[in-house]
Amino acid sequence: MDILPEETPLWQYIERTAREVAAKYGYDEIRTPTFEPTELFARGVGDTTDVVQKEMYTFEDREHRSFTLRPEGTASVVRALIENGRCSDAMPLKLYYLISCFRYEKPQAGRSREFFQFGTEMFGAAAPSSDATVIALAADIIKALGIKDVVLHINSIGCPDCRPKYREALVEYFSQHTDELCDSCRERLKTNPLRVLDCKSPICSGIAKDAPKTIEHLCDGCHDHFESLKEYLTAMGIDYEIDTHIVRGLDYYTRTVFEFIAGGIGAQSTVCGGGRYDGLMSQLGGPALPGIGFAMGITRLILAMKASGVEIPEKSAPAVYIAPMGPAAAKYALSEVSKLRDKGVYAECDIVGRSLKAQMKYADKIGAKYTLVVGDNELEVGRATLKDMTGGENKEVALDSLSDLFE
Ligand code: HAM
Repeated sequence: MDILPEETPLWQYIERTAREVAAKYGYDEIRTPTFEPTELFARGVGDTTDVVQKEMYTFEDREHRSFTLRPEGTASVVRALIENGRCSDAMPLKLYYLISCFRYEKPQAGRSREFFQFGTEMFGAAAPSSDATVIALAADIIKALGIKDVVLHINSIGCPDCRPKYREALVEYFSQHTDELCDSCRERLKTNPLRVLDCKSPICSGIAKDAPKTIEHLCDGCHDHFESLKEYLTAMGIDYEIDTHIVRGLDYYTRTVFEFIAGGIGAQSTVCGGGRYDGLMSQLGGPALPGIGFAMGITRLILAMKASGVEIPEKSAPAVYIAPMGPAAAKYALSEVSKLRDKGVYAECDIVGRSLKAQMKYADKIGAKYTLVVGDNELEVGRATLKDMTGGENKEVALDSLSDLFE
């Protein structure tokens, strides 16, 4: 995916904001490889999920080992902690990442095959107050970006203790509709009935609407966890809706799952999705450390910011453009812009060899606030005219103290 220079200031703004908010919650950055052994995602994300079955970019290297471009970040972070022996660090361990991900999905507004996520993971905290904290972090980032029309949806999908009973209820329900289900769902009914709830086919999702709900089949532990989470969210002033249809498209989730849905951005409206995954670490060969996190799609955040009328930061413009005429003036211009840049001022001068007229046109195009034309005459008297390009007053300045005028 190309992100062109006029768009990058907005990307940088989102990335900076997310990093800053995450830092206030004590999160540190982690970076992991763009591709990993396919096995990691098959085991971590789940080999009956659409992501693994239909959407992965998988290839063999020269030694016929199977690798996959990461479709998401959680499995990689868990692997990295196990592999680097970080599971006995002080808990909770709080990490964030800014990554590109790859899924072979049908592209549309808000959905692309390469996409970017800001994601967070917290390990070693099982209490519902940690769920509330992670959700608060996501809500704070969304708020800091100025996204207004957004609703938090929460659900609980239980744990390995309550899942078998729920699974039975699902199989019983969907078995009455076997003939109507798509081929994949008929298969899913045998392998992983929970995935039928996540099918994108309109017929299957229509049937799934009336399927038994996870929250009606929670064990006492999961029920109490969910009740406490709701109380904590209320105490923190975070509005939410219970949405029993959220199951999430990845297999590792347990208990809390949540999504932030933005209005006015079309069908791909989930700007953030996440949940708890207490079994993933041990499933991937590590200790039984609970985990919870989320990821936000950057392109969807951009769509939501635009829909909320957020003023988009523009590319910065130079404070001053020095237009030299002749080689002696070019030397002055280069040394002066260096001084200005050393002071932290954005300054430009001609480095193309343009005519004066073309230089002035260029200075205007890049939005320079001031221009300074310097030729042999100006060098001789040591003074030149600082022209205010925004229509303000021009002033005579001493060439040797130009940098003092800018902060
Ligand atoms: P996910 O729901 O698959 O979760 O993706 C998270 C977010 O990434 C989505 O809500 C959406 O904003 C964005 N996204 C997903 N697919 C695309 C796409 N094709 N094009 C554009 N944006 C997309 C995860 O990936 C989990 N790893 C999140 C998580 C972290 N759960 C726990 N920790």
